[in-house]
Amino acid sequence: NKFICNCGSYSIETKKVVFASHYPYFLFPLMLPLKTYIEKSYIIITKENEYRNFSCISSNKPIISTRFYKDNNNIYKISLGSSHNTMLKQNDEENFKNVQREFNIKDESILMKYSNTDIITSDYIPYIGEIKENMFIACGYNTWGMTNSLLSGLILSDLIKSGVSEYKDLFNPNRINISQLIKFPFYLINQIVSYSSSKLFKNKPWYKDVKTIKEIGDDISVYTDEFGIEHKVKNKCPHMGCGLIFNEVEKCWDCPCHSSRFDIDGNLIKGPSNKNIKVD
Ligand code: FES
Repeated sequence: NKFICNCGSYSIETKKVVFASHYPYFLFPLMLPLKTYIEKSYIIITKENEYRNFSCISSNKPIISTRFYKDNNNIYKISLGSSHNTMLKQNDEENFKNVQREFNIKDESILMKYSNTDIITSDYIPYIGEIKENMFIACGYNTWGMTNSLLSGLILSDLIKSGVSEYKDLFNPNRINISQLIKFPFYLINQIVSYSSSKLFKNKPWYKDVKTIKEIGDDISVYTDEFGIEHKVKNKCPHMGCGLIFNEVEKCWDCPCHSSRFDIDGNLIKGPSNKNIKVD
């Protein structure tokens, strides 16, 4: 048995495959949407005069965290907050303001703002291991990407080389436990509500420069930029069909269901979608 991976103009034949793509694009065999939810958090970078050698993170939700960073020329502070399930609190501008308030950040000191999404598993343990014969996965890092990706590398290389890892059962992606069983109905409802509300309410009350209209059966969203130029996209995520939300701060289209992201002209920025949302 072998896999054939098509990569643009060439293909690779291999006996084993590892999916390490943040959120895998498929529903089966892992059924990931029914075992996880997506958490979005907001980060503001400011320039500082003094370096302080500490980093901290809250233990309560919504998580806030802060740390300092310096390069050869400058000192920066990285502040994160307003984390939430992507189903809720979808006004990005408001979420960035929350981080500003939380850390008492003045407008003039902001260098950069960006948001990030993480996959949160129902038992807060990543899925790392074999999902079916010779098919491996590493995902669901629960906001601890640097630590858990390193761990994934160690576990998967052991499993591929020898089929044995002392962590195999703990991180087994096919595990079933109480936490998953209890949360399963909530995650199922979350997916249904998330999908339906994204389809029903495409014109958000806080939008300033975006309008969604019907054109030959498609929902077409139009963003008008500061020069008056209109940018049109199809407001339907190619992954599983959810409606998209305009992120007015970062100027992009975000999918609330599994966090695909597209630029203002519909080009794919990140998956699980592997297609654009350009208007033909
Ligand atoms: Fe899955 Fe959009 S529907 S990322």
